[in-house]
Amino acid sequence: MSREPWESAWQRALYGPGGFYRQPVGPAGHFATSAQGIPGVGRVLARAVVALAEQYDVAHVVEVGAGRGELLRQVHALVPDLHLTGLDVVDRPEGVPAAIDWQVSPGGSALPDELGPLTDVLVLAHEWLDVVPLVIGEVDDEGELRVIEVDRAGDESLGDPLDGASRQWCQRYWPSAVEPGDRVEVGTTRDDAWADLCSRVQHGVVVGVDYAHALDDRPMYGTLTGYRDGAQVSPVPDGSCDITAHVAVDSLETDWRTTQRALFGELGLVAPPAQHALSRSDPERYLAGLADRSAGLTATASPGLGDFVWFAREVGVRRSTH
Ligand SMILES: C[S@@+](CC[C@H](N)C(=O)[O-])C[C@H]1O[C@@H](n2cnc3c(N)ncnc32)[C@H](O)[C@@H]1O
Repeated sequence: MSREPWESAWQRALYGPGGFYRQPVGPAGHFATSAQGIPGVGRVLARAVVALAEQYDVAHVVEVGAGRGELLRQVHALVPDLHLTGLDVVDRPEGVPAAIDWQVSPGGSALPDELGPLTDVLVLAHEWLDVVPLVIGEVDDEGELRVIEVDRAGDESLGDPLDGASRQWCQRYWPSAVEPGDRVEVGTTRDDAWADLCSRVQHGVVVGVDYAHALDDRPMYGTLTGYRDGAQVSPVPDGSCDITAHVAVDSLETDWRTTQRALFGELGLVAPPAQHALSRSDPERYLAGLADRSAGLTATASPGLGDFVWFAREVGVRRSTH
């Protein structure tokens, strides 16, 4: 079977004709995120988005990588007046209310030409950058970083040496890869995709949320993996599974970053324990309180969803936390 660099194999497997993300089931058919698939957590996430939109005093939320609109529907239910726009690689999914605008995007690092200039906006990229394909390299026996190539069955071999830009990125952001077999996930395509997204905003904030690492906790063998039918699997670039790798968040141009656990705590999104006395006087409210509390704890659990990193680039706006 022929082999090619991971970057192009990954792009085709997820976004090419018949690619993984073009299939009718959508991401929710294969894995859960904070936006969907875990009872109550999507609502907590929606409340976080609404709170940030209020803190930045913006009237429009754009979600890049909106799946099938799961999160935006919940934001719409909370604040019907907020202008919402979803972008993903498929046509407007069934059931997305007409009040929510929808734009089709090419996929991976590419965004639609007609996106922007955006003003008065919060752009959210929830688990987008981790599915933007990148160059994967490995240190060979001579200590040189070479591009890893892969075939459709997922078998790998070493190809050309990394190009100059990739090598420079690794020297700065992934210097720990020196021993034969050490792997790197070169963040340049994500840095560029993030910069492109930020450049579409004239006045507003761009917020990313992803599994991430930084210089002091860079993984030695990388994080590339796959998901299919609810299970983690070996990444195979044949369109049958998601392919994802954590984001090197420190190489992105950002103004702040924090963990989901810290942010949701700060925003007061974890409900206090339900009062036991209510179980007799108002059992419905008691059960709703229990469910809220449980969703808040799940969204902020560490290890777990609470370890997700939130990062933002502000364009002519500042967050008001009063
Ligand atoms: C991991 S899923 C996350 C979906 C949703 N945000 C969630 O958290 O449940 C990534 C999504 O990003 C979409 N995506 C990838 N590249 C994109 C692009 N350039 N523009 C818009 N959507 C994109 C994929 O099609 C997929 O639906």
